[in-house]
Amino acid sequence: MSNEYQNIHEFDFNLICEYFSLIERQGPGSPEMTLKALSFIDNLNEKSRIADLGCGTGGQTMTLAQNTSGSILGLDLFKGFIDRFNRNATDLNLQHRVKGIVGSMDELPFQPGELDLIWCEGAIYNIGFERGVNEWHKYLKDGGYITVSEASWFTDERPAEINDFWNEAYPEIDTIPVKIAQLQKAGYIPEAVFCLPEYCWTKIFFEPQVEAKKVFMEKYPDNQMAKELMANLSHEEEMYHMYKKYYGYVFYIGRKI
Ligand SMILES: C[S@@+](CC[C@H](N)C(=O)[O-])C[C@H]1O[C@@H](n2cnc3c(N)ncnc32)[C@H](O)[C@@H]1O
Repeated sequence: MSNEYQNIHEFDFNLICEYFSLIERQGPGSPEMTLKALSFIDNLNEKSRIADLGCGTGGQTMTLAQNTSGSILGLDLFKGFIDRFNRNATDLNLQHRVKGIVGSMDELPFQPGELDLIWCEGAIYNIGFERGVNEWHKYLKDGGYITVSEASWFTDERPAEINDFWNEAYPEIDTIPVKIAQLQKAGYIPEAVFCLPEYCWTKIFFEPQVEAKKVFMEKYPDNQMAKELMANLSHEEEMYHMYKKYYGYVFYIGRKI
């Protein structure tokens, strides 16, 4: 689900949600990279209010919760993910300060200036990076932080096949300097930027899908949408292996001015 929503919007969302509920993370990332991003945030305490937008089943949220002391609200469009998110929080005894709710990142249930930190791993593409960083700015306190990971080009030029693939999936993909400029223009000091290492895709995102695909296809052997979803995911993985030197996920950390 790194960007499958754009690719496969014609697929049954419940089916996609069911598939991605089989794996711990719904996009590239890792606990180490979540902690690395968190290391740039210096204003948190037990009163802090944190929002994790497009939280999925909460892989990164639980890491955040175990390494911060404030309250965290996870928000995701899909109820299946949120149900699992809340079960995960309870299993880790974090339910008193970590809560998942169903909602959309384009209509946030917050008051202006309410949040100390907005977190969003691999999900801002749903409304677009530029729109997201601009619209979410008002919900942060002055000095509050935004931390997002976003698919980005590593080079100014790239082969047509991967250029076309991404322009179809997410036309707003762009180079790191362009994203930094967008962050700055939206009213943040760009505090830190770093690229996710390859294992965040291969080991954390693709590898668990081998078993997930097997389980899923055993359940839906004759379902055409399920077959197309599997083919789409395999194509995404092939593209990554072929063209990973040209793109990847990048963490952008900004502080509201
Ligand atoms: C690639 S997944 C990333 C999930 C999680 N942050 C992670 O890194 O594992 C993108 C997430 O965005 C959610 N999503 C899609 N559209 C959304 C919207 N409008 N508002 C909130 N969440 C949305 C999806 O349900 C999915 O959980």
